[in-house]
Amino acid sequence: MTTTARPAASDVKDLSLAAEGRRRTEWAERSMPVLRLLRERFTRERPLAGRRLSACLHVTTETANLAVTLQAGGADVALCGSNPLSTQDDVAAHLVKDHGIKVFAIKGEDHATYYEHIRAALAHRPDITMDDGADLVGALHMIALNRLDDLAPPVRRWVETLSGADRKALVAGVAGSTEETTTGVIRLKAMARDGVLQFPVIAVNDSDTKHLFDNRYGTGQSTLDGILRATNLLVAGSTVVVAGYGWCGRGFALRARGAGANVIVTEIDPLKALEAQMDGYRVLPMAEAARVGDVFVTLTGNTHVIRVEHMRTMKDGAVLANSGHFNVEIDLDGLKQAAQGPTRVREFVDEWRLGGRRIFVLADGRLINLAAAEGHPASVMDMSFANQALAAEHVVQHARELTKDVHRIPRELDEGVARLKLAAMGVAIDTLTPEQQKYLASWEMGT
Ligand SMILES: NC(=O)c1ccc[n+]([C@@H]2O[C@H](COP(=O)([O-])OP(=O)(O)OC[C@H]3O[C@@H](n4cnc5c(N)ncnc54)[C@H](O)[C@@H]3O)[C@@H](O)[C@H]2O)c1
Repeated sequence: MTTTARPAASDVKDLSLAAEGRRRTEWAERSMPVLRLLRERFTRERPLAGRRLSACLHVTTETANLAVTLQAGGADVALCGSNPLSTQDDVAAHLVKDHGIKVFAIKGEDHATYYEHIRAALAHRPDITMDDGADLVGALHMIALNRLDDLAPPVRRWVETLSGADRKALVAGVAGSTEETTTGVIRLKAMARDGVLQFPVIAVNDSDTKHLFDNRYGTGQSTLDGILRATNLLVAGSTVVVAGYGWCGRGFALRARGAGANVIVTEIDPLKALEAQMDGYRVLPMAEAARVGDVFVTLTGNTHVIRVEHMRTMKDGAVLANSGHFNVEIDLDGLKQAAQGPTRVREFVDEWRLGGRRIFVLADGRLINLAAAEGHPASVMDMSFANQALAAEHVVQHARELTKDVHRIPRELDEGVARLKLAAMGVAIDTLTPEQQKYLASWEMGT
């Protein structure tokens, strides 16, 4: 898969890790047949030729396969991490050393370095941006709206050195953007609603071949994987509290039950709560669930879902983890004020003392599946990232007619990804007969 050894201006941990990163990226590629087919077409057709693309994504083996696909399509790619803990340093090294892709990401980077890396991705002056959580687009919009005080210091200091015309050109140069996750799409829809969105965005998360599989089966499995790698706890017989019964929550509840846990769901949406109840889970408010849970996992995309008032009533030894996009779902600032600690008792496990009890917080409340495990299995990311590559192509092909709004990928592309995935899995399906087509299109026929 090596395309070029051109050294790039990058910031990664250690280039000598590249060989291991390449081996692991090739292993992931074996489970990404749809993306591989797209890469073959991109190599022939070069739909992204001459485009600068800045991506802010979790730097994993699957993302490496996407980055190489975008490069095969002709894009000049810069990549920064979308979470300070999710970068796989060997993969970052591999992309730089073997493909000449500019990568700005180091696992465990501090807040300032994280934003210095966002700055570097913006300084690439992208025609297309690709986000997982809208950090790049968020910064571009603060620049467009001249809200420099809302930028993180490394980005603000750089923007202050740019002329007004340069700042305008930076934002105006973006033909469109793509967004990977629910939380990012929520932010972007809020921007569109407020009339401030500066360019069209494709909500990759809204494709059925993304959220039905990645959010549900990917997050479901990898969240359990992350908790187990961090703690090595026995799931069977434990009480697991799942906050949020959306796509991610449904998937995680299913896997926790499959491993033998008694699962409790907390929700704020009556329909989702009803669904959880009828799916056979116990549904409780967090205030009640807090007293009985052994392990708590937030997957809501909301803030302060587990608060100190809940933690005070938890059992000694309760374990708290988050798999929602940002580290705001567990009120860690409140915990810091109220409790003593933290003591690091194991990698990714911090012990806090609260009123004579121990509370264990995993991975600083950041995405547990990416911090303590490897993120989603490649097989689901195959579809998510096929959608990302198609969305980038769609932006290039339709930039003129796309309005400054949040758009879905056209249905036929979504179905195309599903068909390719089924074919790769060796699964055949039926097609409508002419009679069935006519029946479904008519309203005159009754019993
Ligand atoms: N860990 C990962 O790799 C990964 C993958 C995909 C998405 N995500 C993130 O996970 C989060 C959830 O995504 P989703 O696709 O499941 O979203 P979703 O909208 O389908 O589900 C979120 C659910 O949380 C519920 N909720 C909101 N506030 C709540 C509260 N205070 N208490 C209990 N429930 C509450 C909502 O009613 C909704 O049912 C987002 O932040 C998303 O970006 C993470």
